[in-house]
Amino acid sequence: MSFDLVLFGGTGDLAWRKLMPALFQAFRHGTLPEGGRIIGIARDELDDDAYRKLIQDRFNAVEGAKRPSPEEFKKFASLLYYLRMDLSQAADYQKLAEVLKGRNANVVVMYLATAPALFTQVVEQIAAAGLNGEQTRVVLEKPLGHDLASNRAINSAVRKVLAEHQVFRIDHYLGKPSVQNLFAMRFGNALFEPIWRREHIANIQITIAEDLGVEKRGAFYDQTGALRDMVQNHALQLVCAVGMEPPINAHADAIRDEKLKVLRALKPWTAESIGMHAIRGQYTPGTAYGERVQGYRDEPGVDLDSRTETFVALRTEIANWRWAGVPLYIRTGKRLASRDARIEVSFRQTPHAIFRAPTNSVNKLVINLQPKDGLELHMLAQAQDNRQRNGNRHAGPQLAPVQLDLDFDKRFGSERVGAYERLLLDVIDGRLNLFVRSDEQEEAWRWVEPLIESWNSDGAPRPYAAGTWGPSASSAMIARDGYAWGEEQ
Ligand code: BG6
Repeated sequence: MSFDLVLFGGTGDLAWRKLMPALFQAFRHGTLPEGGRIIGIARDELDDDAYRKLIQDRFNAVEGAKRPSPEEFKKFASLLYYLRMDLSQAADYQKLAEVLKGRNANVVVMYLATAPALFTQVVEQIAAAGLNGEQTRVVLEKPLGHDLASNRAINSAVRKVLAEHQVFRIDHYLGKPSVQNLFAMRFGNALFEPIWRREHIANIQITIAEDLGVEKRGAFYDQTGALRDMVQNHALQLVCAVGMEPPINAHADAIRDEKLKVLRALKPWTAESIGMHAIRGQYTPGTAYGERVQGYRDEPGVDLDSRTETFVALRTEIANWRWAGVPLYIRTGKRLASRDARIEVSFRQTPHAIFRAPTNSVNKLVINLQPKDGLELHMLAQAQDNRQRNGNRHAGPQLAPVQLDLDFDKRFGSERVGAYERLLLDVIDGRLNLFVRSDEQEEAWRWVEPLIESWNSDGAPRPYAAGTWGPSASSAMIARDGYAWGEEQ
């Protein structure tokens, strides 16, 4: 099979940080179909060789095994091409059409790693140049729009010129091996499903914590904020993966139908619940990696009076028969105490206590997404006989917390296929399972929109020092229900 991958935004942050390294890994693993081309598109005055050199310089800055040897890079570079385009100019799409006609590949992937404001224009121009044939697949990066209306506008422009099976809305969290394992754990085993419900589960926490700040993306981030950058997409996709009913099969639409139902069942926000259950924060100067770091408002590209949130903590509920009454907490932020993404599912206490146990311990299943990738099952065990030690011969058995620990990196090797690598190969192979359908995306926007509106008109986010776990209001919110965030217990 031959393919052309056209990368709009070919010199952008995403191309350097994620896409090129992922394509190189696929090439190295021998999974990138042979005879393909990767055509970077940007406005910079470059030719093929200058583009290759830029990519090589980026790769050379990488430490360790991921850096290609000169021979490896030379082979990879033979797939790389560059085309200068002004995305507003129809004539430039004709130039692209010429380049593509030369190869006539069976699959043409148009990857839009550009600002979302350009999506509609690019998709319309692609079609006007006759480049929307059956062999074309278009990948749309998040965020797709900045609210429900702009998301709908993009989706309807896309629908006019492409069939839904040609559209790959990417959410790279769905490509993470740990998220794959969550599906495998839930739907490949009979063990968990019967207890995966309100009768047995006390609460669910989803944390996506980053220790990095906004890096070089201040200007973009300041228009976006954590709610749009992480909650509307990544966090809600994790909510779906945890909360969905078992799909009838593993086909894309069967999975997406079930995810959609979860999004529809999320409790709608009211002014009262926003006040009590939606906390936003913004980092101030603090410490990261043992060094002083600046606050968000001092980051390049960020407004000095910015009210953009870099932290969000929410309490919600999936209002259906399976989950009614089970609190679902979501927390994400930049410049938090550590990089840590995990889902914690806490089970209810035993109905009757016959042992002496630590008061706050419950069974808990922790799904570690990163940096660790694995499962931990927290439970109680009889550690030792306490009779001699505490001198109380009638104390009875005393339980201590222990955990079963499954480390997928140790079990399957840490050189597993990364999220972008997997998803890019899925696009080339036409597999839509791990991509988001337009109705899912719209539903997710619909759910976050009251928060956006309320925060637009209401004060500033709460400050938190870089290197902490966010504003104290986040812990207070969860403490009101008698729980605590995982790491802070
Ligand atoms: C991106 C966000 O979608 O996900 C970034 O735009 C964030 O702000 C990144 O840093 C996190 O991805 P990962 O895979 O590093 O957890």
